Amino acid sequence: MADVETRVVRSRSALRSSYAELAPGARRVLVPTMGALHAGHAALLREGRRLAGPDGHVTASVFVNPTQFGPNEDLDKYPRTLEADVDTCAREGVDLVFAPSADVVYRGGDPLVTVDPGPLGTLLEGAVRPGHFRGVLTVVQKLLHLTGADVLLLGEKDYQQLVLIKRMVFDLDLPVEVVGVPTVRDADGLALSSRNRYLSAEERALALTVPHALDVGSGVARNGGSARDVVSAVQAFLDDHAGLVTDYAVVTDPALGAPPEQGEARLLLAVRVGSTRLLDNAALHLGGGS
Ligand code: PAJ
Repeated sequence: MADVETRVVRSRSALRSSYAELAPGARRVLVPTMGALHAGHAALLREGRRLAGPDGHVTASVFVNPTQFGPNEDLDKYPRTLEADVDTCAREGVDLVFAPSADVVYRGGDPLVTVDPGPLGTLLEGAVRPGHFRGVLTVVQKLLHLTGADVLLLGEKDYQQLVLIKRMVFDLDLPVEVVGVPTVRDADGLALSSRNRYLSAEERALALTVPHALDVGSGVARNGGSARDVVSAVQAFLDDHAGLVTDYAVVTDPALGAPPEQGEARLLLAVRVGSTRLLDNAALHLGGGS
């Protein structure tokens, strides 16, 4: 995918003029990101290019969205690497990088009207990070409107975010198809994340406990264990590793509801290693078998 010329725009008007040049009816794909792009993001961009086809158009947004960060979170130190991000986008055949500043996205300052994520927004990440999903849903909805996207790509890595955005699209009848992309991992199993760069070598080694804990949980489910058995085994495994703090280890149904007795479920983990929070999750099949 070398023959697409990647354009970088920062303003609403430049975005509008770029879209004005598109053939009417061209499929528009959006991959929203906060930058510091890694191979996980690259997989989304590649899938976006594939879904858009040669006649479609792929936009990647690079915007560290202030409204989804809490007052004591890492907004200021969140990595910003726009030049390298544009190179990654060019390699993956992205047509347009939208990299606005906060005052372009929030032109009236903090928005007065926002998207309420509802009860699913208060669970798990929402319980640890109040207001986080309100900020995420609000910015994603704004980006959908600004880009006129027909297809939205998101990673399964942030599973609750994926479920909530699908639910927003369903409940608010947004005219967009949401596509989830499987989590990309390092060779040793650690899920790629922009925040992994904060880990020291020692913490990086300890962080591997997280994907190992997912394997433990999947094994228990495969052997016929219940959701409760999975959680106890995973919790015990995490507790065995000094230096980790578990924010949550839960099993839900695929839509974040109560887990079923049998069938498809999701195991979701949030673990702190030093000051870095690691999120990971895996599909489970409860009731034995794979
Ligand atoms: P960010 O953390 O930059 O992630 C952008 C997209 O990349 C998300 O859909 C995320 O799930 C996906 N992603 C991250 N790591 C991944 C991995 N290892 N494998 C596959 N996909 C991965 O998520 C956000 O930004 C923001 O909340 C955003 C949706 C852009 C709204 O501001």
